[in-house]
Amino acid sequence: MACGGTFSMQNLVACLVVCLSCIQTGGASGCKEVERAALLAVKAKINDSYNLLSSWEGRDCCSWRGVGCDHTTGHVVKLNLSNRCSTDETLRGEIDPSLLLLTNLSYLDLSCNAFFGFPVLDLIGSFPSLEYLNLSSACLGGPIPPQQPNWMEQSLKNLSSVDLQYSGFGGLRNDEFSSTVTSTPARELCNLKYLDLSGLGLGGDIVDLIAKFRCSWNELQVLHLSDNQLRGNLSTWLAQMTNLTSLNLRNNSIAGKVPKWIGNLSNLTFLALSYNCFDGVISEAHFVDLVRLDTLFLSLNSLTMSVSSDWVPPFQLTSFAAHSCQLGPKFPEWLQSQTRIEYLGLANTSIADALPSWFWNLSISELDLSSNRISGKLPSSFRTLPLIYVNLRSNRFEGQIPPPPPRIQALDLSENYFSGPFPQTLDTPNLRFLLLSQNLITGSIPSYICELSSLEYLDLSNNHLSGKLPDCRWKSQLDYLDLSSNNLSGEIPGSFGSQNSLESLHLNNNSLDGEFPTSLQHCSNLVFLDLGENKFTGRVPTWIGESLRHLVYLRLRSNSFIGYVPPELAQLRNLQVLDLARNNLTGSIPNSFGNFSAMLSTHTAQTIRVVLFYRPKCQGLDYTNDLAVVIKGQVLEYSSNLNLVKVMDLSGNSLSGKIPGEIGVLQELQSLNLSSNHLQGRIPRRIGDMRSLESLDLSYNELSGDIPQSLSGLTYLSHLNVSYNNLSGRIPRGNQFDTLDDPSIYIGNAYLCGDQTNKNCPEDGNNLSETKEDDNESEFIWIWFGICLGFVAGFWGLWCVLLFQRAWRIAYFETIDQVSEWLFITAVRRIARLSRTK
Ligand SMILES: *[C@@H]1O[C@H](CO)[C@@H](O)[C@H](O)[C@H]1NC(C)=O
Ligand SMILES: *[C@@H]1O[C@H](CO)[C@@H](O)[C@H](O)[C@H]1NC(C)=O
Ligand SMILES: *[C@@H]1O[C@H](CO)[C@@H](O)[C@H](O)[C@H]1NC(C)=O
Ligand SMILES: *[C@@H]1O[C@H](CO)[C@@H](O)[C@H](O)[C@H]1NC(C)=O
Ligand SMILES: *[C@@H]1O[C@H](CO)[C@@H](O)[C@H](O)[C@H]1NC(C)=O
Ligand SMILES: *[C@@H]1O[C@H](CO)[C@@H](O)[C@H](O)[C@H]1NC(C)=O
Ligand SMILES: *[C@@H]1O[C@H](CO)[C@@H](O)[C@H](O)[C@H]1NC(C)=O
Ligand SMILES: *[C@@H]1O[C@H](CO)[C@@H](O)[C@H](O)[C@H]1NC(C)=O
Ligand SMILES: *[C@@H]1O[C@H](CO)[C@@H](O)[C@H](O)[C@H]1NC(C)=O
Ligand SMILES: *[C@@H]1O[C@H](CO)[C@@H](O)[C@H](O)[C@H]1NC(C)=O
Ligand SMILES: *[C@@H]1O[C@H](CO)[C@@H](O)[C@H](O)[C@H]1NC(C)=O
Ligand SMILES: *[C@@H]1O[C@H](CO)[C@@H](O)[C@H](O)[C@H]1NC(C)=O
Repeated sequence: MACGGTFSMQNLVACLVVCLSCIQTGGASGCKEVERAALLAVKAKINDSYNLLSSWEGRDCCSWRGVGCDHTTGHVVKLNLSNRCSTDETLRGEIDPSLLLLTNLSYLDLSCNAFFGFPVLDLIGSFPSLEYLNLSSACLGGPIPPQQPNWMEQSLKNLSSVDLQYSGFGGLRNDEFSSTVTSTPARELCNLKYLDLSGLGLGGDIVDLIAKFRCSWNELQVLHLSDNQLRGNLSTWLAQMTNLTSLNLRNNSIAGKVPKWIGNLSNLTFLALSYNCFDGVISEAHFVDLVRLDTLFLSLNSLTMSVSSDWVPPFQLTSFAAHSCQLGPKFPEWLQSQTRIEYLGLANTSIADALPSWFWNLSISELDLSSNRISGKLPSSFRTLPLIYVNLRSNRFEGQIPPPPPRIQALDLSENYFSGPFPQTLDTPNLRFLLLSQNLITGSIPSYICELSSLEYLDLSNNHLSGKLPDCRWKSQLDYLDLSSNNLSGEIPGSFGSQNSLESLHLNNNSLDGEFPTSLQHCSNLVFLDLGENKFTGRVPTWIGESLRHLVYLRLRSNSFIGYVPPELAQLRNLQVLDLARNNLTGSIPNSFGNFSAMLSTHTAQTIRVVLFYRPKCQGLDYTNDLAVVIKGQVLEYSSNLNLVKVMDLSGNSLSGKIPGEIGVLQELQSLNLSSNHLQGRIPRRIGDMRSLESLDLSYNELSGDIPQSLSGLTYLSHLNVSYNNLSGRIPRGNQFDTLDDPSIYIGNAYLCGDQTNKNCPEDGNNLSETKEDDNESEFIWIWFGICLGFVAGFWGLWCVLLFQRAWRIAYFETIDQVSEWLFITAVRRIARLSRTK
């Protein structure tokens, strides 16, 4: 060490100091044994799966990671177990009470970890010298010690920084935490410079919370109370905080006007009032002395910002958001002076104006002007701008789309009037989200799309795109591809098979042709597949059931598919929407269709990932109408619809045979449409078991027999259509049938009769005895069936055949399946009757 080498007076003194402190701390370790043992006890309880505490070994605990000692006393005075919140590499587990042995601790940072199981608030009271405590996002919990109702008062006396944001007190102990904070006067907190109580579930009036601290507050520089449920308004409590530099009240329920004197808080650099209930007008006066203001977030209040067109603000903002506030109809001219602005969020601000020419001179990198009525064109210099995130969705922009800036990651120009072909080049290696839907874009999809190596989400739907799909090797791994409602033609190229990350593929409403693309066999992550309204031909492949295991939504509607309906489709356990309508499918409905798990249980698609979104850099601060929300919204729309909707539509084909009774088990199916086929036989009684059915369309088939009384128990059934069949007999009455009385839903069945039609049933009056007779007959058959079963092992055959000849004569059975179905129903009826008589 420094003692070697040339001799000098300074070196001697330095050596003496070092040696003295060695002696004082009791040896070469430089660390008190009791504190070392305490730290090891703490380490022992922690699950350190990322080896963050690997340096915690050996004698000198002062040199361990995150541990700091006082040079003169050798006591541990600093413990920093923090991890950057951006990584998953956290410490987990309990905090051992031995921590309390570090009595000289003045700095304790446990932020961004996952600790639990310790009454953490003890921590606060146990370190008399504590000056800095950071439990932000530490997932701490544990009860507030009842014996220490004044913990706040006792423990924060000397603290200058308290950062408890998202520390987990907001979990189970919400109420106690709030009541402790609000019932305990914390008189001695007047040195506080930094107070962060975000996300702790604090309720009540903000005035009461502030009043508990009984300070003049003029030392306080940072007050963060975001993500709580505080009420009240900005009254004089705020006016005292003259040294405030950062005020974050985002996401509370604070109401009233924003007082003009907020403009006196001349040190303010950060002001977030978004997601509250403020109303009234914000004017120049509110900013009069805010010369240092850098960030202003006002979104989602009922605020109107009204300043004169020649106002020159005293500040230079870098971030400004006022989503859903009233700023228009004129575009705010004062923004012209904000030459340092990087983030501008003005979604849904009632601006109905042309975008001023100076606008693109600003240095914005993240821009959201969505949901306004802003008109204009993108500048020819677009490519040279520093933009990373652009959302102009739902405006009146027009003209051609120029090549976007190379750094761009997300571009949403949907719902505008952009026209012309795609830009000539798209040299944007970081582009992840490209959304151009609902414009007037023409021409073909350029093959450079495949070169966009970061692309995850591509929506070109509802344009005038024509030509073939690009046949090129995709460099990206798309999650979402929507090319629907264009004029695209040709076959789906085999290269689509390389997109095995694809979860949503929407190609509907184009003029695509060819057979069902075998390349999709590799897209095993598909959840949504819509090939509807195209010109696809050939058979529906059986491998769909095998290979596309995650499908929730399969729509092949309005194509020219032929052949039978593959029974293997029923292997799709998550399938909730099956739409094969308006094709040329033949054969019968597979019996396996009773096996669709998602349609027979309340199970809904858990597999839908809602992770498709872009997070701009100011995470969660004031991005409301951003892509995250838009995309999330779409996916959520799907998934929430999907949570609601379970549908099977096989209508408009040439399906024949009978309706399999097995589908009766699909108790969660809400809509069943089998109309316009050639289905024959009776309507299975078991359809009456489909208790969630809201819509049942069996019209335009060749069904015969009567309408089963069992349908009257379908209490949600609001839409029934059995018109144009060969049904006969009396239309049931009672329960649900009392509401299904529109005659048109029964029309075209010559032998249907009853109140709902104009035809009286011929045997009106002796209906009851007929049913009874039928029941007697049933019972007779049932008993004999039992006897037959008994004989099966022995001489199955003649007896039963003879017997069932009689049965067939009675009920016009065609297959053994029908016999068993009929017997099943009979058995149920019998049991029902028996239980009634008991
Ligand atoms: C430690 O954490 C890892 C990852 O969270 C987990 O797999 C492991 O089971 C944990 N070990 C203990 C002893 O809790
Ligand atoms: C605390 O530790 C973390 C992680 O090692 C480090 O990033 C941070 O700078 C430390 N803080 C202080 C004040 O030393
Ligand atoms: C440091 O710890 C020692 C031993 O626990 C104690 O006597 C002393 O008062 C503490 N000093 C401070 C400043 O807390
Ligand atoms: C607060 O700090 C002062 C000096 O900074 C010290 O004298 C006093 O003892 C401390 N109070 C407590 C309760 O530790
Ligand atoms: C507390 O820790 C978090 C996460 O490490 C950090 O972002 C925050 O600035 C810290 N608070 C204070 C007051 O230093
Ligand atoms: C601002 O804080 C300083 C100490 O940091 C204090 O001396 C001064 O009085 C405060 N200013 C006002 C206007 O209260
Ligand atoms: C508002 O805060 C609550 C917790 O109080 C949180 O659950 C919610 O996600 C926050 N909302 C927004 C928009 O940040
Ligand atoms: C503002 O900050 C400066 C130092 O940055 C300080 O001197 C002044 O007291 C603070 N308070 C007010 C009210 O200006
Ligand atoms: C805040 O509320 C109090 C009473 O609830 C009212 O007297 C005061 O005028 C309100 N202040 C503002 C700025 O709205
Ligand atoms: C704000 O400042 C103005 C003058 O700049 C003064 O007249 C007014 O009283 C101040 N308001 C408060 C609440 O301090
Ligand atoms: C747009 O702003 C208005 C208030 O100006 C609000 O009522 C509406 O909900 C907002 N729309 C969206 C989609 O946020
Ligand atoms: C259905 O197939 C038949 C023959 O198989 C053919 O005549 C008819 O045109 C096809 N209909 C459609 C809509 O493709």
